[in-house]
Amino acid sequence: MSDTASKGTGSDILVWDLPTRIFHWLLFVTLVGSWVTHELGLEWTEMHMWFGYTALTLALFRIIWGFVGPAHARFSDFLAGPRQVIAYARAWQEGPPPKYAGHNPLGGWAIVAMLAAVLVQGTSGMFNADEIMYSGPWHGAVSESLADAAEEIHEINFNIFLALIGLHLAAVASYWIRWRTNLVTPMLTGHKPVGDADAGTAIAGSRIVLALVALGIAAGTVWLVVYMAPPPDTEIFF
Ligand code: HEM
Ligand code: HEM
Repeated sequence: MSDTASKGTGSDILVWDLPTRIFHWLLFVTLVGSWVTHELGLEWTEMHMWFGYTALTLALFRIIWGFVGPAHARFSDFLAGPRQVIAYARAWQEGPPPKYAGHNPLGGWAIVAMLAAVLVQGTSGMFNADEIMYSGPWHGAVSESLADAAEEIHEINFNIFLALIGLHLAAVASYWIRWRTNLVTPMLTGHKPVGDADAGTAIAGSRIVLALVALGIAAGTVWLVVYMAPPPDTEIFF
């Protein structure tokens, strides 16, 4: 892709790099997958855990990407202090709020909350068990009360997560309903029209090789955590 093409056509500019976009839609798929495989019944638990490991890998990748990715993927680009967050929330109420090439100050913290929710969900899942056939890899390594606590966390955090996702979707929808600002197409194509973002805020490219390294580190970390677990606790099976 030529530099001009990657930056946009003049009427639009590249703001979301490809790894961030793939991360987003894969996260969506893995979370729906985790939920559906839980709903389908216990024989789907193994598949459920695979979706969970993938979600964990994605969250770890996104955290690394938040430090080394292109401008708008970086935490430093979208994590603002309380004053800016409050000012943005006020502007949002009165509307229309100022436009950001990347995430706005309020949305930035919602993203951190969602990433934290994935980490809590995936980590607590490691200690969870369906008490019949399958258990998370670390279930047998902790006391019963700790495993029970992890199970509670896995259940409660999922509800918090659902609320966060609901808020996320409501926020995205409200930009369209109130101000006809389309945030979804840029998350698909990477490009925003000039007018929704300053031309000077375009990113130069997607840093694919670096993203693959970050993904390797994230996947390797999850693999190591699962691999290092002690042999399964057979007591709960029979
Ligand atoms: C399981 C459901 C979902 C989760 C957990 C989720 C999570 C996230 C996260 C973490 C980001 C930040 C992206 C990044 O910087 O890496 C984000 C952004 C975004 N998501 Fe989602 N998402 C979900 C579903 C959806 C759906 C279904 C849509 C569209 C209908 C959507 C539209 C968007 C948009 C437009 C942005 C960019 C917002 C902005 O411009 O600041 N998301 N989402
Ligand atoms: C990160 C995404 C994940 C989501 C959204 C998710 C969601 C859920 C939900 C909603 C439940 C039912 C809780 C209840 O009502 O008691 C559940 C159960 C369970 N989860 Fe997860 N989970 C995730 C990751 C994981 C991981 C990484 C593991 C293990 C490594 C895991 C292992 C289990 C087990 C063993 C159960 C009990 C069996 C069942 O009810 O399906 N989960 N999960």
